[in-house]
Order: sequence, then C-alpha cells, then structure tokens
Amino acid sequence: MVSEDLVSRDLEMEIKAGIGNWSKNPQALLNLLYKYSFEMNLDSLRGVALMAQISPIQIWAAYEDWLKKQDEAVLKICDNITCLGKGALEIRRHFKKKPPAGIEIQWIQCLGGCASGPCVQFRGRLLTQMSLKKVEELIQAETQIP
Ligand code: FES
Repeated sequence: MVSEDLVSRDLEMEIKAGIGNWSKNPQALLNLLYKYSFEMNLDSLRGVALMAQISPIQIWAAYEDWLKKQDEAVLKICDNITCLGKGALEIRRHFKKKPPAGIEIQWIQCLGGCASGPCVQFRGRLLTQMSLKKVEELIQAETQIP
C-alpha cells in the first residue's frame, strides 16, 4: 500500500479517477506521477499499481520504458571539480548562459570517468575528454532531424 505521506490527496484522486484506463496507458500514469514529483521506485510503484488497479509488472515495464525515453533527451555533464579543472568549466559557463534547444542538460556530480574528463553521458554512453566544441557538435548531430 502506498503511504499517505507519499501520495498527496490530489494525486490519489487523479489516480482513482483514471481507474480502468491506466492498464491501457500506463505511461500516462507515470506522467501523472512525474507531474506530482512522486518518487518512483520498486516499492512506491507497487503501491501505485494497487491504487490504480493495474499489474505491478505492467507499471514496472512501463517505468523502464519511461526512463529510457527520459534519458534520450538528456545530456548529463559532469559538474565535479575534477572535470571542471580539465575544461568542463567552459562547458558549464556556456550552457548555463545559453541552454541548448531540444535537449535537457543535467549537471551530475561525477559520471565515473574522472581520469579522462571532462565527461558527458548521452543515451547511456559515457564520452570522455570532451570540450565545448565536441559537446556542441554532439548536440547538433543528435538533435538534427533526419
Ligand atoms: S569528476 Fe567528472 S567524471 Fe568524475
């Protein structure tokens, strides 16, 4: 069961209003949870599945797909002092002033490639020894319409 602390009254009402539709469109349920900044994890989604009267497996599968889609439009850039000292500061200054269109930037404390920084991660790939020019080229290539 979802703790009342985790689900606001408004969210609970919206979930219950959609009963019967969530199994047809579990992505919509996830979008609703996201809108309410609901912390999604295995336990909390199991509770939401009970409340929404759908299978926990179905919501979990939808959650994995949802996560992949969220990641497709997100460029993660290391914001740690190690990478900043190797050139990420220029990347940071540039994108803080002028965020790119069509892609979200997330500033991450460490992406795990510290020795080869500056590091960015895009669509699950860790890219090392990046520069502002390389990041701009990556964004341009990945956001072009084929
Ligand atoms: S400090 Fe940048 S990847 Fe670890």
